Amino acid sequence: MEFTPSLLALSISLVVFIWLKKNRKAHAAVPAMGPEGIFSSYLGALEYLKNAPKIIQKGYNQHKPMFRVPYPDKWMYVLSSARLIADLRKAPEHELSPAHGFGATLAVKYTLGMRFVETPYHEMVVRRELTRSSNERLLDVWDEVVCAFGDEVGVKLIAGGGWVALPALETVLRIVSRTSNRLFVGVELCRNADYRDLTIEYAENVIKRARIINLFPDALKPIVGPLVSPLRRGTSRASKHLAPIIEERLRKEETHDEDVDPNDLISWLITHAPADSPEEKTIPALIQRIMQINFLAVHTTANSFTQALYHLAAEPRYVAPLREEVEAALSQENGWSKATLGRCCKLDSFLRESQRFNGVSAINMHRKVLSPSGFTFSDGTHLPMGTYITAATYATHHDEGNYQDAEKFDGFRFARMREAEESEGSGSSKYQMSTPDPAFLAFGLGKHACPGRFFAVTELKLMLAYILLQYDIRLEEEGVRPPSEWFGTTCGANRSAKVLFRKRFET
Ligand code: HEM
Ligand SMILES: *[C@@H]1O[C@H](CO)[C@@H](O)[C@H](O)[C@H]1NC(C)=O
Repeated sequence: MEFTPSLLALSISLVVFIWLKKNRKAHAAVPAMGPEGIFSSYLGALEYLKNAPKIIQKGYNQHKPMFRVPYPDKWMYVLSSARLIADLRKAPEHELSPAHGFGATLAVKYTLGMRFVETPYHEMVVRRELTRSSNERLLDVWDEVVCAFGDEVGVKLIAGGGWVALPALETVLRIVSRTSNRLFVGVELCRNADYRDLTIEYAENVIKRARIINLFPDALKPIVGPLVSPLRRGTSRASKHLAPIIEERLRKEETHDEDVDPNDLISWLITHAPADSPEEKTIPALIQRIMQINFLAVHTTANSFTQALYHLAAEPRYVAPLREEVEAALSQENGWSKATLGRCCKLDSFLRESQRFNGVSAINMHRKVLSPSGFTFSDGTHLPMGTYITAATYATHHDEGNYQDAEKFDGFRFARMREAEESEGSGSSKYQMSTPDPAFLAFGLGKHACPGRFFAVTELKLMLAYILLQYDIRLEEEGVRPPSEWFGTTCGANRSAKVLFRKRFET
């Protein structure tokens, strides 16, 4: 069913009516960004949806260690101090839950399905199996990068001759869906156009629909949620592709048929399904889980890549040193391997700087306080059970106290920092893209930091290396980087801009 503006308006008035009876509990000692009244705070929430990055930046500048911002259905407590953000690093899930925090902002019950929150074993599967596999199967990922660029860019170059302009984000999304799904579901299905489009569209629907559902207070979500839920349609479209494969795998598991271990996400999910939740090892549950992981993997990686691509296309002076580094690493290591990627320090720095500079969101590291006695931070600040917490990551990344010339994109910033570190003799992983620190929170921090980041970084590096080796690139308007687009708190790469490609060595 389509969601019309008049239905929305009607519902909002209903919301306000219900709210007149049921006030929201707030922690008065924490400063609020916006009005506190029942009706006015709702308007404040609508204002926040329009101007989230500005309001969060203002809160970050004015209020340490935290402030709160109004959402239509709740207050969100935003951490603005490194010390309190570091407290999130070790907090156990039963006190501060990432799944419930993240889940609420995504209205998971109606978008991704409750198993995302109730049995989040995909986190361990991604951290352990996908990370291992992205090293062991690095050449498969590379093969898919090569084939995907061939289909999305190469073919058009042959047809076009010379420069060809392609919509960047759209193209990158299709490439990332394929390269990710090469390890998720295998070579055949990752190249299926309908499956590929589904992974992209479903994730977009999850975000859009969650935004609508979260305009309503909890009491109304069970009415609105099912009306706009993308869950059933998404899973039934996925079922067409996935059900036969999963059925076959489950049957093989049952009969202990070990002829070939496919070593992909489907097999890991079957192997690690928690023994005390047998329903996880069913076809519908596994389909839902694969879609959840696609949701986490594809748009994050594609936006990160497109942002870096826009920097590279806007500032051609970066091309030569990056190309040299990649070519040298490849010849030193005789082709692609984990060691080859390890040699590409400038490439890593460039991607990390783009991630710092652009982020994917003004806030991340969502948590919900689950312990009945609440949660106490190391400075003594106490927040009661049920509170939603997050960290002001974008503002942290743009804080002059953390980075010199923080408002400037400096592609080799982290390579220089790493060199300085290494010349002091500590050959650590500090300042590498996959290593979070209190001033680099794009993947979170501590034990709940994004478990997919090692795979994501591998993919990002291989894709950027491929472009450097194969193409010259430029923008439609020379040197003018397409500005990012903000939606609420999320920062996306510009969706409409084009990047021009030309085969290298051809003039
Ligand atoms: C550049 C790309 C990516 C970015 C920027 C990113 C960012 C994040 C962030 C900020 C979190 C939350 C961390 C926290 O709460 O402290 C997260 C969680 C997670 N990410 Fe990623 N991610 C990326 C790619 C991926 C990929 C490729 C996968 C998997 C294939 C993945 C799987 C996950 C999972 C499973 C979680 C845990 C979610 C939960 O709480 O259940 N991510 N990611
Ligand atoms: C995206 O980039 C294009 C081309 O550079 C520009 O015209 C457009 O305004 C940008 N979109 C936003 C929302 O800034």
